[in-house]
Formats: sequence, structure tokens, C-alpha cells
Amino acid sequence: MADKRFHLGWFMNFTPDEWREPFGQGGRPWDGQFYVEMAKSLERACFDYIMIEDKLMVPQTYGGSAKASLNHGMMVPKHDPAPLAVAMGMATQRLGVIATMSTMAYPPFLMARLCSTIDSLTNGRFGWNVVTSAEDLMAKNFGMDRLPPRDQRYEMADEYMEVMGKLFASWDPDAVVLDRDAGIYADETKVRPIDFEGKYYKVRGPLNTVPSPQGRPIYVQAGASPKGRDFAATHADSIVSVASGVEEMRKFRADIRERAEKFGRDPDSIKVMFCVTPTLGETDEEARAKYERMLNSPHFIVDTLASLSAITEIDFAQYDLDKPLPEKLVTNGESGTLDKFQQWGSGKTLKELVVAGGGGLVSSVELVGTPDTVADRMGEVMEEVGGDGFLITTPVLRVSRRFITEVTDGLVPALQKRGLARTAYAHEKLRDNLLDF
Ligand SMILES: Cc1cc2nc3c(=O)[nH]c(=O)nc-3n(C[C@H](O)[C@H](O)[C@H](O)COP(=O)(O)O)c2cc1C
Repeated sequence: MADKRFHLGWFMNFTPDEWREPFGQGGRPWDGQFYVEMAKSLERACFDYIMIEDKLMVPQTYGGSAKASLNHGMMVPKHDPAPLAVAMGMATQRLGVIATMSTMAYPPFLMARLCSTIDSLTNGRFGWNVVTSAEDLMAKNFGMDRLPPRDQRYEMADEYMEVMGKLFASWDPDAVVLDRDAGIYADETKVRPIDFEGKYYKVRGPLNTVPSPQGRPIYVQAGASPKGRDFAATHADSIVSVASGVEEMRKFRADIRERAEKFGRDPDSIKVMFCVTPTLGETDEEARAKYERMLNSPHFIVDTLASLSAITEIDFAQYDLDKPLPEKLVTNGESGTLDKFQQWGSGKTLKELVVAGGGGLVSSVELVGTPDTVADRMGEVMEEVGGDGFLITTPVLRVSRRFITEVTDGLVPALQKRGLARTAYAHEKLRDNLLDF
């Protein structure tokens, strides 16, 4: 029988849980325990990975101030994903943990060292979501007045990845000898400086960590622009995307695979994961009612627009909710999300655009129904798209224990019953599990 399995990831961030809702956890997840428990639940459901989003600023674009983001707990407070990834990784045995860190924030040496350390701490289950940042507000926290333009950020990031590769290769895999009798820990002939001098970075090396179990972390990327797609197709092991519907999903994946081939890579070595925000219920009607309730809640509109303002640095509070956007908007930030949202030419009012987005900014297809209904639909979609998996999340990334359970104990078993999701991990390392099918 053909293997119909696809991969499952979860997209979240280290922000308050679904604190406003009746099944919230109180809004103070700062000791990490709520998210560590979530990681254990996802491991029980055999997810490939949990991915922690990140930004390095307090958003204050929506309405021209930080009021909406702080009042609503939207994209802030947001704690550092790297220590949380360690906590999650050390509390699990098979689940991959992926932290987002920006090439505009960390010097490559620190990034390589941190990734190597976490990959060792998690026994080969760490991944890095490679982002180039998208906001001038972030830039101002790092000694810049504004971010360089997108294409230059990608040019810098290409060089950054070259440095990372050289640093990881600065220790031969067998450099650690650990010969007690001879008193030799590491062989000095197998650890070499890299003496890198490029257009943007200058790094002597070698790295001062031992080779980690995966050699380097898994690279995750979300490039959407042509340059971004080239970057992702060159470097990524897994690409995360938000598309508008099945046809766009299919086209995106085919485009990435074509680019990967052009760069001499095996397209099957890249797992493209599409964001979805399932709404699950005991019956299809109940799920539909839940979905409508969410779309029509006043919080939903403000949260969606405030979050879009944060990542595009366009103030959506200035536009009339009951009119179409006055012009086609462009951003130096997250252009893919903006383009998907604004559906330029559709004639929809701003409010209709928010509602039409359904799962906020992050759902590639609408998934509403019982676990069986949604599992069937996910199977159909994957078949049409060709692979490789889904990245489950919620409209503004807030989670409750109840939603996690609906997925891990309702949806995933329904997928497993259909042969669409793994029922056990075949490997210990994240890379091997990603390449398993
Ligand atoms: C699922 C998903 C997750 C993302 N996570 C982050 C993130 O955590 N931090 C960040 O700065 N950007 C994040 N991005 C934005 C991307 O890194 C990238 O900037 C965006 O997709 C636009 O790509 P482009 O600049 O090539 O158009 C994410 C995008 C997607 C689709």
C-alpha cells in the first residue's frame, strides 16, 4: 500500500496563552511549564516538530502606538524562544524543537554556537527558523535606524549561511578523541580556523563547541518573495508557508521544488509545510458555529489587524473597516502575508478581508468540522498539493490546553486511522524523522 503519510508541525510562540477565553490558562506562561506540557502532548501525537515564532520588538504600528499590542497581549509580551526550545527538548525524546532567531540580531559565531549547543542538549532534535527580520522597530533595537531592503537582507543572509556552514565544518566529525590513556580530549589537527572574510561578515573561527549530533541544526525558512524562495530552496530542510487555497499551495510547492533542482538539490530533501488553523467540534455544525463565533468576535478583527500591522509596519487602524483598502499596499516586511491578506482587486472591505482570511493570517485552507471531517479534508488537500505536511496553529497563535487536546487526541488519531500521520517515531533525530517519508 502506498505511504500516504504527511508531516505535522505546530507553529506557536512564547506569548500568553488563550488568556481571555473560558478555557485559557491564565496568561502567565513564563515559567515555560505550560509550553513544556504542550511539547509532551505533541510528542505523544508524533508531531515532527514544534516551531517557536519570534520577533524582537514591541509592536507600535497599529493606531500609531503600543496600546493595542500591550492591551491585547498581541505579539507582546514575547519571551526568548531559545531557552524555551531547550526546556521543551529536554522534556521530550523524539519531538523536534525549532526556534526562530534573526540573522540581523545574532552575529554568525554566536548563532552557530547556540545552535550547536542546543542540538547537543536535545540529542539532535534542534532546528533554526532562519529569519532576516521584517521591521524597522526591530532594527532600532540593534543599532540601526532601519532594516536594509529585503533583497540586501537575503544577500547578507546567504553570506551568513556560508559562514555558519564553515563554522560547523571547523571541527572534523572525529575531532573529539577522548583518549584517556594518552590524555587527549580533542585532536588539534582536526579543528581549524575558517578565516572568513566576506562582504558583510569577518569570522576567524574555529567554533568552540564539539560537533553536534546533527552536525548542524535543521534549517527552516519561510521566504515568500522570489529572493526569499531562492534563499529557502538553497538552504532549507523545511519550508513553512501560508498559501491561499489548494491551487496556490500546489503552485508554491512545485515552484520551490523547481528552484531546489536548479540549485542541485534533491527536492524531496525539503519538506514544505502549510499553515492551517483547524476548528474542531463534536459535530460539523458545532464546529461551524464555533468558527463563526470566532470570526464575528470583536477581538478577532483587532487582533488580526494589529498583528498584520506589526509584521508589515503599515497602520491598519487608519483604514475604514467598511471600505476596500484605498491602494495596493507594499512593505519591506512580510510581503507574502500582506499580499495574501489584501487580495488586491477583490473589492472586499477591510472587515470582509479579515473574515475571508478565516484562520486569521495563517490558514492556507479552511478546516472546520469533526476530527473525521477535517482529517478527510487534510488528506484530500495533501493529495492535490503533492506533499509534504501541515503546520498547525491558531489565528493569532494563542493556544489553550483544550485546543491542543482537540488536535492531539481528536484530529491526530483520525489522521492516523486513515494512514495519513505517523503512529510512532522511526528515528531519534529530527532530520531523520523529516526524511522518513
Ligand atoms: C509560517 C511562517 C512563520 C514565520 N515566522 C517568522 C518569525 O518567527 N519571525 C519573523 O521575523 N518572520 C517570520 N516569518 C516571516 C518570514 O521569515 C518572511 O519574512 C516572510 O515569509 C516574507 O518572506 P519574503 O521576505 O521573502 O517575502 C514567518 C512566515 C511564515 C509564513
